[in-house]
Amino acid sequence: MGKQKNLISKLLAFYRLEEFQVAYYQAQLSSSEGEYFRRAFSRMVDIENSHAQYFSRKLNQMGIPTPKITGSLFTLAGSILGESVELTGSLNACKLGVALEKHALKEYRKFIIEAVDYPELYNTLWQFYLDEEFHTLWMEDYLQKTNKK
Ligand SMILES: [Fe+2]
Ligand SMILES: [Fe+2]
Repeated sequence: MGKQKNLISKLLAFYRLEEFQVAYYQAQLSSSEGEYFRRAFSRMVDIENSHAQYFSRKLNQMGIPTPKITGSLFTLAGSILGESVELTGSLNACKLGVALEKHALKEYRKFIIEAVDYPELYNTLWQFYLDEEFHTLWMEDYLQKTNKK
């Protein structure tokens, strides 16, 4: 029972985290940074969206409706990263993106350990973990290439 409750609260937290990533990367698509950047961010939107959908499906399977995400990007970013953040400008897009991904990676590592008794979830979390790692590396590389570090 306690185990089930903990699982549900984890799935809810990850659903929120992933939906925030969707919204955050989506917000960068209007950036003037160029086609390469926009295509990469558009790809990340798709991937984060597939992550969010997975957590939503898991919750629904357990009889929990998909939660509504409320609040502005600023409020959400602050609540996730625990600090005030600058969300605008292509210069900051990758920097905050990396911070968000690093936060996600840390959370995924904890969840993976806890999910060891749920093989399907465990495998999926590992896949998502690697997706997040690829996003981090892409943005770090982009910062490096454009000297925006
Ligand atoms: Fe994700
Ligand atoms: Fe990601």
